Amino acid sequence: MLDNIKVEYDTMIPNNVGLSSDKKVLKALERWHPGYINWWKDLGPVGFQESLVYLRTAISVDREGWAKFDYVKMPDYRWGILLAPEKQGRTIPCGEHFGEPAWQEVPGEYRSMLRRLIVIQGDTEPASIEQQRHLGKTAPSLYDMRNLFQVNVEEGRHLWAMVYLLQKYFGSDGREEANELLKRQSGSEDAPRMLGAFNEVTPDWLSFFMFTSFTDRDGKMQLEALAQSGFDPLSRTCRFMLTEEAHHMFVGENGVRRVIKKTCEEMVKAGISDPFEIEKIRKLGVIDLPTIQKKINLHFTLSLDLFGSEISTNAANAFTAGVKGRFWETKIKDDHQLQNDTYPILEFENNYIIKKDAPALLALNMRLRDDYIKDSSVGIKRWNRTIESFNIDFKVKLPHEGFNRSIGTFANAFIDPHGNILNSKTWDQNVNNFLPSDDDNKFIESLMVPEHEPGKYASWIAAPDQGIDNKSGDFEYVKVHDA
Ligand SMILES: [Fe+2]
Ligand SMILES: [Fe+2]
Repeated sequence: MLDNIKVEYDTMIPNNVGLSSDKKVLKALERWHPGYINWWKDLGPVGFQESLVYLRTAISVDREGWAKFDYVKMPDYRWGILLAPEKQGRTIPCGEHFGEPAWQEVPGEYRSMLRRLIVIQGDTEPASIEQQRHLGKTAPSLYDMRNLFQVNVEEGRHLWAMVYLLQKYFGSDGREEANELLKRQSGSEDAPRMLGAFNEVTPDWLSFFMFTSFTDRDGKMQLEALAQSGFDPLSRTCRFMLTEEAHHMFVGENGVRRVIKKTCEEMVKAGISDPFEIEKIRKLGVIDLPTIQKKINLHFTLSLDLFGSEISTNAANAFTAGVKGRFWETKIKDDHQLQNDTYPILEFENNYIIKKDAPALLALNMRLRDDYIKDSSVGIKRWNRTIESFNIDFKVKLPHEGFNRSIGTFANAFIDPHGNILNSKTWDQNVNNFLPSDDDNKFIESLMVPEHEPGKYASWIAAPDQGIDNKSGDFEYVKVHDA
């Protein structure tokens, strides 16, 4: 049964967690707020802070009414604390407490484990905003600029979501962690963000679309696993975040599809049927398909690293504690404890890739990664359908999971995108065929010219099939100059 919870808009921080009668937490959040706004101004989107952006704001968490569209200046966006409705009688879906009532307070024995998981999740949210902060300047259209800023404000809200949990449930160490989240910085030498992929730069818009396709999808998988937490406030927080995350992946997947579409359109117009006529294709002002494949290779493998090592006792402990579940835990038909089960994993041993059975509990990262790969392949199919519709003989693919890895069993392996095992010399000779080269990156960068006329798009990307909020093709999604 779902309760319908009203969103309070009278407090400075919109919320559906009854903050107006929870003075202590409200005060803590109000104290955190100015630091957040300063962080947003210093490390959030560069420029456009005074522009009016046609943004979606969550005003309630039920299906019909949660999104309201209006022009807003980004610093005035109403970041709120929104949890999905409580499910009456919810029980812990996995581990040794399976079937017991879900926790409404943090169980003492799992306090530090939970805090750590919330901090790691929280750290990725501002990190992605920092990574994307320069992209506004080179937006290929007002539509795309608006989508970037929508993703950015929502990642900001996700930070709020995690900070609320820290402030409400973790006392003074929670407050300290909340402050630290504003101090670490993507790519910083002294205080980098916690996970590798979140310290990489997002230098151009193709990278942004790849990031939202592949790295936000890792975020989705982590949120799905945390949505299965026995700690109910975390579960409800993540369930609502997932509704926003879906939009981020839409932006990424459609962005890449529109890049592919434009390339194919221009190839057909110019009578080029060979996708490897790279110089000729680039002269058309579009990105050749082999370079798009290299970008897929890079972003997919950086994202695979986010799942951690194939074998992990931390993952096993979190599952057994009932603190983090599997993807769609409640739909899986087994005992949800996995004490005697096995799961097939890949291992790189003596220069061979071998498949073996491992204890299922220890292999939970591998399992989530497998679910992620399945989820990612849906987008690949869509992209290939676009290429096929132009009768061009090229298929994009997900690279082999042993390719270009820095974490886990494949960390020191030289494996090509097809899964062939190389030595370091053949790797070096071919790496520019696998991953974007400096030249490729320079070429992509050369295309990054802003387009601010409503309804117009840069040379390398097609218009979307549909506007946001059903707006017409020439709608002014960002009032850049009015401000
Ligand atoms: Fe997020
Ligand atoms: Fe996201």
